[in-house]
Amino acid sequence: MPMKENFLWGSATASYQCEGAWKEDGRIASNWDTYLHDNHYENGDVASDFYHHYKEDIAMMKKGGQNAYRFSFAWPRIVHEDGTINTKGLDFYHRIIDECHRNAIEPFVTLYHWDLPEYLEAKGGWLNRDTCDAYLKYAEICFREFNGEVKYWTTFNEPKWIVVSGYLVGNYPPAVQCAAKTVQAAYHMMLASAMAVKKFRELNIAGTIGIVHSYSPVNGVDNTSSTRAAMRYADNFMNNWVLDTAAKGEIPADLLDALKEKKICLSFMKEADLKLIQSQHVDFLGLNYYARALIKPYEGGETSLIVNNSGSKAKGCTTTRIKNWFEQVRDPNSEYTEWDTEIYPKGLYDGLLMANKRYHLPMYITENGVGMYEDVSAGIVKDDYRISFMNDHINALMNAMDDGADVRGYFAWSSFDLYSWKNGCEKRYGLVAVDFKDQNLKRFPKKSYMWYRSVIEKNGGNILRKSYK
Ligand code: BG6
Repeated sequence: MPMKENFLWGSATASYQCEGAWKEDGRIASNWDTYLHDNHYENGDVASDFYHHYKEDIAMMKKGGQNAYRFSFAWPRIVHEDGTINTKGLDFYHRIIDECHRNAIEPFVTLYHWDLPEYLEAKGGWLNRDTCDAYLKYAEICFREFNGEVKYWTTFNEPKWIVVSGYLVGNYPPAVQCAAKTVQAAYHMMLASAMAVKKFRELNIAGTIGIVHSYSPVNGVDNTSSTRAAMRYADNFMNNWVLDTAAKGEIPADLLDALKEKKICLSFMKEADLKLIQSQHVDFLGLNYYARALIKPYEGGETSLIVNNSGSKAKGCTTTRIKNWFEQVRDPNSEYTEWDTEIYPKGLYDGLLMANKRYHLPMYITENGVGMYEDVSAGIVKDDYRISFMNDHINALMNAMDDGADVRGYFAWSSFDLYSWKNGCEKRYGLVAVDFKDQNLKRFPKKSYMWYRSVIEKNGGNILRKSYK
C-alpha cells in the first residue's frame, strides 16, 4: 500500500554541517569551532556553504519532488553572550523558511543539532544547570519569532549520540571521558528538552513538538536470561533514557539503580526539575535510524568505547563495551560500511514496532542514509548502493506501517553532501553531490536523487517490497 497523501517525503541537514559562513552576519563561535580549530582538525568553516547556496539547494529539493526539509537553527547565530538577539541570524532562517514555503516544502526545525555557543561551553556546557536556562531562553526566542511559520519543531537532535561522544568516548567536544559527567550532561539535556516543551505549550505555539533520537533497536545474540539482562542494560544506555524520558516523563528506574551501583552520584537531580520532566511529554518521536545493536553479556572486562572516525584506515575498530552491562558485537552475516556501520534494514522494522507499542506516538524517520567514499569528479555519481539501501529501509518502514506503526514521514540523510563531523567531508551521504574542491562548490544530483524523486512521485508505490515474515 503506498503512503497517505500527506506523508512527508524529505531530506535533512544540520546547521554546522552545511552552513559554513562561520563568522558572517554576527554568528559567534560554537563549541565545535573552538574544538576543531584548537586541535587542527578538519572543520565546517565553509562546509557546503549552504548559507550562500540555500536557494539553489532548496530548488533542488523541490525539483526532486520533496515536500519537507529538516534542518537546524544555529544557536550561535541567534543569541549573543550578553543576551542580545542577533536579528541577522534570525533573518537568515526567515529566508530559509520563506524559500521552503515558496517551494511548497514543509520546514521541520531542530533547535539544537550540537552547536553550542562557545561562551556556554566555557562555563561548563551541559554539566552546568544554567545551560538549561540559556537553552530555554533561546528556544523561546525561536518559538515567538517563527510561530505560525514552522509547524514541526524538535528540541534536540540525538542527545544520546552527542552526550556519549562528548563525555564518554571523548571524540566530540568537550572531549571528556567520564561516566559521572556523561550522566550529568545527559540529565541536563533531557531537562532542557522538557523545559522547552513546557514553554511551547504555555506560549500556545501553533504546531507540534518532538525530539530526535539516534535509534539503535536492540537484539540479543541468543535468548538466555543473561543475554536478556544485557539487552535491557543496552536498551537503557542506547534508547530508553531519551525516549522514555521524553515520551513518558520517566527516567528508567532500573537505569538509575544501575548507576547508583556504579557509585555515580545523582545529587544534581533536583525534585522540582524531576517533576517538570515527569509532566512534559513530546507530541511525536523523530527517529534517526542507521543500524541496530546486537548485544551479548559483558562481565569480565573494563569499559571501552571506540568510534571509527577514520573509515577504511580503521575498519573494524569500533567497540562498545560497558563494564558489567553489555557488549555490542558484529553479526558475521551482515555487511558493514567502511565506518563500521551495519546495514540492517530489518532493525528499522523491529524498532518501529517496538517504539509504537511502547509510546503510541506518531513517528518520523528523521534521518536514514549511508555514508560512503565517492568520486564526484567523474560525472554523475552512480550510487546504486544508496538506492538499494534506501529502498530496503523504506520497505522496512512500509512493512512496519502495514503492521500498525504510525509513521508520518521519511527524511533521507542528507539533502546534499556535507561535513560529516570528525569524519570530515570525505564521508558522503548526500542525494546531491557537492564538489568541495570546486571554488563554487558545484552541486549536481546523484543517481539516488533521481530514484528518490520517482519514489516520491509514486508515493512509495514503486518500492521493491520484501516481507520479513
Ligand atoms: C546522526 C547525526 O548521528 O548521524 C548527523 O544527527 C550525522 O549529524 C549522521 O552526520 C551521520 O553520522 P556521521 O558521523 O557519519 O556523520
